[in-house]
Amino acid sequence: MNDNPIGIFDSGIGGTSIWKEIQTLMPYEHCIYLADSKNAPYGEKPNEEILQLSIKNTEYLIQRGCKLIVVACNTATTNAIDYLRNSYDIPFIGIEPAIKPAALNSKSKKVGILATKGTLSSALFHSTSQNHAAGIEVIERQGKGLVELIEKGDMESDSLKQLLYQFVQPMLEKGIDYLVLGCTHYPYLIPILREILPPGVQIIDSGEAVARQTKAILAKQHLQNSLNAFGRYQFYTNGNLEVLERFVLNAAPNVTAQYLDF
Ligand code: SIN
Repeated sequence: MNDNPIGIFDSGIGGTSIWKEIQTLMPYEHCIYLADSKNAPYGEKPNEEILQLSIKNTEYLIQRGCKLIVVACNTATTNAIDYLRNSYDIPFIGIEPAIKPAALNSKSKKVGILATKGTLSSALFHSTSQNHAAGIEVIERQGKGLVELIEKGDMESDSLKQLLYQFVQPMLEKGIDYLVLGCTHYPYLIPILREILPPGVQIIDSGEAVARQTKAILAKQHLQNSLNAFGRYQFYTNGNLEVLERFVLNAAPNVTAQYLDF
């Protein structure tokens, strides 16, 4: 048993979609969440900078006593998780685009993936695609500009809708039946995506699988919390506090959110 918090970080508020899955599955675990919105989007930055930002976030969470860290950002996972796992003595859970279930279930054998440049160009993404999507045509699109809009709290404007349409239209022309969301910000676009996509196209993201994996690792390493009540969920942002609050304040009991200059 271990009553220390789970640490979660992301390039901003997108990883709160992962926290929601973790909180639903393990409501008794305390969580500390770092939203590095000042540096969003990570997806357009060079690998070395993504690595340095991931190290900075990790060291803060370790200093706060976190027992496990969820790298709730596809771009940081694909560029930094190997280094983090080799350098620190606690477990790390990463987020990879859910290519495998999409490829397994696709009937048209055509799967679309929307992710950042940093994720799509990473070696980890390429090996995942090669290993799990053999015989499947994977149609990739960089969701350039989406993270910035979501970080401003925009999840329904006409310009956002037009941008999304531009990204998914070429995939629809190719006949995809699965759309993989390869960025933790994108699950917040699901309502608008449902308006754009034909009913036969399934949307798939990694949130639930990541929460299950986190639970399994905590159990395996005897790190579960002994609390028999809701945990405490502390959120910190170096960006716009008001936007973060909109995403998390009413999502669970015991949530606090504050600005932190990290
Ligand atoms: C970004 O910061 O560019 C997006 C975060 C992600 O890849 O999940």
